[in-house]
Amino acid sequence: MAKSPKPPRKPAAKAATGKPAPARPARTPRNAAPGRDPGAPQGAQGLAKGATNYGDRDFALYLRRAFIKSMGYSSAILKKPVVGIVNTASGFNNCHRHFPELAEAVKRGVLAAGGLPVDFPTISICEPFVSPCTMYYRNLMALDTEEMMRAQPCDAVVMMGACDKTVPAQLMAAASSDVPSVQLIGGPMMATRFEGERLSACTDCRRFWARFRAGEVSAERIERVEGNLATTAGSCGVMGTASTMACIAEALGMALPGTAAIPAVHADRLRAAEASGALAVELATRRPIRPSQIMTAPAIENALRVLLAIGGSTNALIHLTAIAGRLGIPVDLKRLNALSDTTPVLVDLKPTGQGYMEDFFAAGGLGAVLRELKPLLHLDCLTVTGETLGQRLKRETGAFVDRAYIRPAAEPIMPVGGLVSLFGSLAPRGAILKRSAADPALFEKEARAVVFSSLADMAERIDSPELDVRPDDILVLQNAGPKGGYGMPEAGYIPIPGKLARAGVKDLVRISDARMSGTAYGTIVLHVTPEAAVGGPLALARTGDRIRLSVKERRLDLLVPEAELARRRAAFRPPVETPRRGYDLLWDRHVLQADEGVDFDILRPEGR
Ligand code: FES
Repeated sequence: MAKSPKPPRKPAAKAATGKPAPARPARTPRNAAPGRDPGAPQGAQGLAKGATNYGDRDFALYLRRAFIKSMGYSSAILKKPVVGIVNTASGFNNCHRHFPELAEAVKRGVLAAGGLPVDFPTISICEPFVSPCTMYYRNLMALDTEEMMRAQPCDAVVMMGACDKTVPAQLMAAASSDVPSVQLIGGPMMATRFEGERLSACTDCRRFWARFRAGEVSAERIERVEGNLATTAGSCGVMGTASTMACIAEALGMALPGTAAIPAVHADRLRAAEASGALAVELATRRPIRPSQIMTAPAIENALRVLLAIGGSTNALIHLTAIAGRLGIPVDLKRLNALSDTTPVLVDLKPTGQGYMEDFFAAGGLGAVLRELKPLLHLDCLTVTGETLGQRLKRETGAFVDRAYIRPAAEPIMPVGGLVSLFGSLAPRGAILKRSAADPALFEKEARAVVFSSLADMAERIDSPELDVRPDDILVLQNAGPKGGYGMPEAGYIPIPGKLARAGVKDLVRISDARMSGTAYGTIVLHVTPEAAVGGPLALARTGDRIRLSVKERRLDLLVPEAELARRRAAFRPPVETPRRGYDLLWDRHVLQADEGVDFDILRPEGR
């Protein structure tokens, strides 16, 4: 059969000029996507910034002015620099219940300094109200905040946060958006006088609940305690995660000096809000310092020193790692150990000591701690005020300090830092122990493991009289890490099994891939990485195995022969179904492990 002739080649398409047209139109740059304003003139400010892209910028700005005027603004005030106020007041956030008043004080400061304050909402998350846990939504709040800071015409931003995950989410957002920002802390709650002692959330919550479980406190008394644990606005009143993150925000230089510890209901808190508003106008006009100029590698190291010296929350390590990760700064757990070995614990607050945050504030606050740590800090770090840390500390020389709560470096509570990271066959990429809140008698231990395969398994068996558990065992909880199905909850504070609690046992070594509330205490090894749900060695532990903990050697090992581990590894199946849609799918695909801050890979700089 004769071959059919080849069809003639299509001539190349020609443009109107007669030259061949490019094969494809150039791709639209990401920042010119709908809603962005690529045509904005350099240095556009205030409401002239970031107009919606209809292809006619003047029309977009005209529309914007028309709509904002519906809120009663004059043309004169609309010419002012705009300070956005991230307002995280929410009916589901008791820690932020004073935020409406706080936002008014920020606005007062902005107006007095010549700016236009505009508050806007973002996601707000509060520990007891969010399921499966607030950690699961920290990245969503960070993403929401970052995008709104960038999408709306803010020349600078005041970020109002207090409850555990809100301040880290906002600092992550500031790092990624790089919009000039001030972190305004909401402040801790006050302690309550109750039947001859002081109570505050949430170390006392746990203390009383443990006594209730042990049968030492009646049902009638625990109900009265319940009504007296959290009686004012503000975040938990001890050195838990919220207070630790407040101190870290100030140590990083993102919050005004002296503001981390001011109680939520103190008049100074409103003055701090007013001053933050005024400072934001400076950032919007004369001194546009960006978060990336403040949160540098030396500043992150300063924050780690502070975390160690205040006996701060283990959660803060995850958050600080995530914040630093947004700026491409790694936080190395081995470096943490080096810092921990040379940083004394100076602050005597619950959960590791006796005082409450109001005592810390009255004792001199974070400034007093920073002055004690001065020889260990990078003093040339820039802060949001334009001062360096060194200039700030020089200015504060001679301020009052109550040594009952803030010790001098020469007479510390502990000569070494509050946290230590452990490595070994059970945690190849690390695990964390808050040694300042743990029992040193348990630091060197080899014992039998009692393993719970999930939170549900633990809930079902922990109080069973049939549970085979002895006071010298090590409790292990699997599948409570980032991908374990619950978003890495604060479940690492594994309860003392009912029968041991009733027998007077107060502490056991407990190991998991979960987190722990910053208000909790005990010999608790957390953040085991890689986690069980992705097949980390923790998944291979079985009841009856031997585990060895050595804080001295920084080791955590599963003492099982390699051949047996290989057999168990081969039988491993991921315990959680792959989600099909929505945020669950986003989390599952993109969440990183604890040593990377449990952030999303797509939100780190290399992910963009
Ligand atoms: Fe908000 Fe504790 S519940 S800080």
